[in-house]
Parts: sequence; C-alpha cells; structure tokens
Amino acid sequence: MSIEYMSMVKPTRILEIDPSNLRIDYLVEAARVIKYGGLVIFPTETVYGLGADAMNNLAVRKIFEAKGRPLDNPLIIHISDIDQLNILSDNVKEEVPHLAEKFWPGPLTIILYKSEKVPREVCAGLETVAVRMPAHPVALKLIELSETPIAAPSANPAGRPSPTSGEHVKREMMGKVDVIIDSGETLYGVESTIIDITRDPPVLLRPGALPVEEIEKTIKKKVVIPEFARGLIEASEAIAPGMKYRHYAPSKPLQVIESSDYSNLQRYSLEVFKYAKRLIDNGFRVAILTSTETIQYYRKVEVLNLGSRKNLFEVARNLYRALRKIDELDIDIAVSEGFEERGLGLTIMNRLRKASGYNIIRI
Ligand code: TXA
Ligand code: MG
Repeated sequence: MSIEYMSMVKPTRILEIDPSNLRIDYLVEAARVIKYGGLVIFPTETVYGLGADAMNNLAVRKIFEAKGRPLDNPLIIHISDIDQLNILSDNVKEEVPHLAEKFWPGPLTIILYKSEKVPREVCAGLETVAVRMPAHPVALKLIELSETPIAAPSANPAGRPSPTSGEHVKREMMGKVDVIIDSGETLYGVESTIIDITRDPPVLLRPGALPVEEIEKTIKKKVVIPEFARGLIEASEAIAPGMKYRHYAPSKPLQVIESSDYSNLQRYSLEVFKYAKRLIDNGFRVAILTSTETIQYYRKVEVLNLGSRKNLFEVARNLYRALRKIDELDIDIAVSEGFEERGLGLTIMNRLRKASGYNIIRI
C-alpha cells in the first residue's frame, strides 16, 4: 500500500443503532465527531446521509472530498428543531411555517434565502440554502446532540445510487468517513422532495418521497413542475443548481417504455413484451422491470417486479435496488414499464427516465 493511499484511508467506526431503542452512548460519540469537524454517515427516513457540521466550512469541504462531489453541487442542511431555521435564513417566507408544521419532520426540503452565517461551501456559492428536518429518530437525536445543523448529501460515492441500507454504505464508504451509523433499511428508499419557495409560484426542483400534490394542498397554490423535474430533460443550472449532475444510471442500457394511458394494462404490457421480444429475437438478453399487475404477461424473459401500481410507495422503495440489480444480472439490456405521473408516480418516472439517460420510448 502506498503512503499516499494510506493517508486517504480513515479508520471508520461502525455503530449499529436500532431506531426503536436508541443507544444514546453511541449517539453522543457520533455527535462528538460532528462537533470536532468529522464525518458521520447516518440514516434518514429517505436515504442515508453523509453528514458534517453545516456551520464549519472545513468540515463541509470534507464531505465533497469523501463523496468525490463537484464543488458546485450544493448540500441539504438537516435540522432537528424549527428554531434552527432562524440561524440558516433571516428571510423565512410565510409558506414555510405551514409547510414545516405539516411535513416536518419528514421528506420535504425547502429552498430559502440563506443567512450570512451559512458557509458558502454548503450552498456552492448560491444566495439560497436547502433545509429539511428528517423524520428518523437517529438523525434527529444526532443533530440535537451535535448542537448544530448537519449538512448532508446522500451517502453514496458520486455516480452511485443513494444508499437505502447500512449494507450499501458499509460496502461503498468504509475508510472515507469517521463513523457509519447502521440502522438497517430506510423507510422510503428515495430522496426528499425539493421545493423552491423563493420563487412565486413555487417550483418543484426534485420530486421525492413527498407527493407534490400534498404540498399544493397545504400552501393552496399550484407548484410549477418543470420538464426537468419530470425527468424529461436535463435541468438548467440557473433554475436547479446541482441537478445537472447525472443521477445513477446502470452501466447497461435501460429503456423506459411509456404510454399516455395505463388504463388497459393488458394491452400496454403486450406492447412492452412485443418490444422486448424483438430485442430477444435479435440476440439480446433482456430483463423487464415490471409491476405486480402486469408480470403475468411476460413469458420466458427475466423480470424484476417493482411492486404494485396500487402501492407506488412500494415501487419507489424497490426502485434503487432494481436499478442496482440490472448490472448484476446476466443481461445486455433492461426495459422498464412506465407509471402514471401522479403522486409518487412523478418521483418514480423522474428517477427511471434519468437512470435511462432519457432513453424513452412512447407506445
Ligand atoms: O432525502 C434527501 O434529500 C437526502 C437525505 C440525506 O436528506 N439528501 C439528498 O441530498 O438527496 P443530495 O445532495 O443527494 O441532493 C441534494 C440536491 C442537490 O443536488 C441540489 O440539486 C439541491 O439538492 N440543492 C441543494 N441546495 C440547493 C439550493 N440552494 N438551491 C437549489 N438546489 C439545491
Ligand atoms: Mg444524491
């Protein structure tokens, strides 16, 4: 092992914490690491986060290094108490208390104007800051004991899918951080919904675990859903900083076969099957990402069931696992069904379309 390599490897301490029976001694230990400017990977209800003291610019810089993340991709700041908002922003818009009351702690990230106190590294030099209060007992207690907001992107190396279990994190981040808190699987398995309310009307920057319709009901306003939030085109830097970075994509080709009408699922899946069959007849080994309702229509082909169309929570939760699986299977190409863009369907289609590199076929 070269000296150069040795110097990059940190001894990583693994702390297993059961969310329903918190080990406060472990959390105190992890909080001490945050206070001293170290890196702690911790669970949230969406995906695992790679955290550091948000108010310490040197600590924040370490996050970018550990992830291999470009410096112009801003981070989300996690809080455990609504009062911390006033440290991060001195211009909190009137919608924020309504949203916070209704959805925090929970999978909603709000973009606000930043205060002077927030180091520019966290926000990649922008005038705004992304904030959320996660709904996970381990995350909340860690922030509270650290006595500071925690900046954290998803805890994957850049270019990998967001980690939804302690196993993923241990496989990919050992030696890169001081502490990994392993609390098993996360609840939602997709990232938080990001909404920019510095704009009027508010703009959805990333659909996530909280359906945008819920936000609209609460603020009694329509939210703008740009094409990039649907995963149809690349985001422009001016509107959605950081979003230009490619989301995880399997190394094998993935095609999304969409319909404008999913009411006749038998007819739709027969079309998907016909498409896959043509590939198979041309010598390709194919897997189809399917749903509980349609799996019966595919014969003699590898299938990955994402879950029921009546339970999109389940589909969203299984999505990253399925995307990781594409690379593990002995196939040349994957073909995915599409889902109606309502509720979590918007989130699912955003991730699927981006993972396919916009390789979308409409039938
Ligand atoms: O569920 C989640 O949101 C997870 C957990 C750990 O909280 N975090 C997460 O972070 O997904 P990350 O870094 O993978 O995605 C955050 C994205 C950035 O890529 C960027 O596009 C956007 O949030 N963002 C952050 N600050 C922003 C700002 N000031 N303006 C616009 N977009 C911002
Ligand atoms: Mg991420």
